[in-house]
Amino acid sequence: MSAPTNPSVLIIGGSGVVGSRAARALRRLQPALPITLGARDLARADTLAKEIGGANAARIDLERQDLGLPADAAFSAVVVFLKDTSLNSMKYAQAKGIPYVAFSDFVFDIGPAVAHYIQKPGSAPILMLGHFLGGTVTLAALHFAREFQHVHSIEIGAVFDEEDVGGPAAKGDLEHVARSVPHPLILENGKFLWAQGEGATRVFRGADGTEWKGHASPLLDVVSLAAATDARTVRLDFAVRPSASRRPGQGLSHEVIIEIVGERRDGTTGRVRHALTDDDVHSGMSARGAALAVERLLGLAGGPPVAPGLYHPEGLLDPAYVLERLKELGTRIQVTALPERHGRLQQRMT
Ligand SMILES: NC(=O)c1ccc[n+]([C@@H]2O[C@H](COP(=O)([O-])OP(=O)(O)OC[C@H]3O[C@@H](n4cnc5c(N)ncnc54)[C@H](OP(=O)(O)O)[C@@H]3O)[C@@H](O)[C@H]2O)c1
Repeated sequence: MSAPTNPSVLIIGGSGVVGSRAARALRRLQPALPITLGARDLARADTLAKEIGGANAARIDLERQDLGLPADAAFSAVVVFLKDTSLNSMKYAQAKGIPYVAFSDFVFDIGPAVAHYIQKPGSAPILMLGHFLGGTVTLAALHFAREFQHVHSIEIGAVFDEEDVGGPAAKGDLEHVARSVPHPLILENGKFLWAQGEGATRVFRGADGTEWKGHASPLLDVVSLAAATDARTVRLDFAVRPSASRRPGQGLSHEVIIEIVGERRDGTTGRVRHALTDDDVHSGMSARGAALAVERLLGLAGGPPVAPGLYHPEGLLDPAYVLERLKELGTRIQVTALPERHGRLQQRMT
């Protein structure tokens, strides 16, 4: 590894499907920010670093507390795009007092990272970003929820192409969920529960009106949205679109439907439905969420560098800002609102 002139952002897993997109998104947001791509296969990471520019590559050994890096290596942040079961990457960031972003923790497996944070709460800012699409969906939901004075429910449905499964690390994570955690967490009528059977499924309409049967997923969005709003019901369900149903020439697009019911500021009860569609694989939006979070943690956007603490994306990023950036980067948003109970449907595109 050649030493970068300024401390760079160490992106472990930076040569993977989502990590490489995050590195490119960060480069687009911050043209001069030094980046180090960490992985086991140095040649692949190095090729990508040359393409990105202002970047280098480092071989990472997660079995070691020093990650296999030289003693004098200096970084401004550590961002990890794989499930680091040793947590050596987090301990490394805490020891150096630099921000750490965990991208691969489901709601049931954040315990060890939380314990490490509790042990050294003043050491570094720790961002748990295992949220759906890198936190962008939770932030979008919070932005849309702002039109209500009280939120009753937030129900998120997502449709993925069956081939949009990410790289080997992402596939491994999904197998881990299927094997070890059969029941997803939802908030229902004010109570958290691990949903089972039919309770773990939900039928919702996609962006074009197609009816999908989704299955709840144990991502961090449920706990974030439950903590950040007064909603009594919060859930996130995934449906898989068979690749055979894709139109000729159509890529691996995906869509997210956010439905919110609540009391508007004028006292009426309303329901609003936002459809987010994006023509990249889902890792594209995830990577943009991660890049916006890194930019914020370092104090390069939205305020000064973030102080040590344990964070979720909604504690760091302004939802309105993130939505604007997503739209600039190609995400489309379609809104359908029912302004009053039994009122007339209104639709608009942004
Ligand atoms: N929160 C979200 O929104 C979100 C969205 C998408 C994916 N994810 C998560 O992001 C992670 C990456 O997914 P992906 O699709 O990008 O997978 P991927 O293409 O397999 O990428 C994995 C990356 O990690 C590196 N890597 C793997 N094992 C390593 C090890 N032991 N030490 C050092 N580097 C290692 C790989 O490079 P080498 O093989 O060269 O080591 C590669 O750069 C998964 O955990 C997935 O669940 C989260």
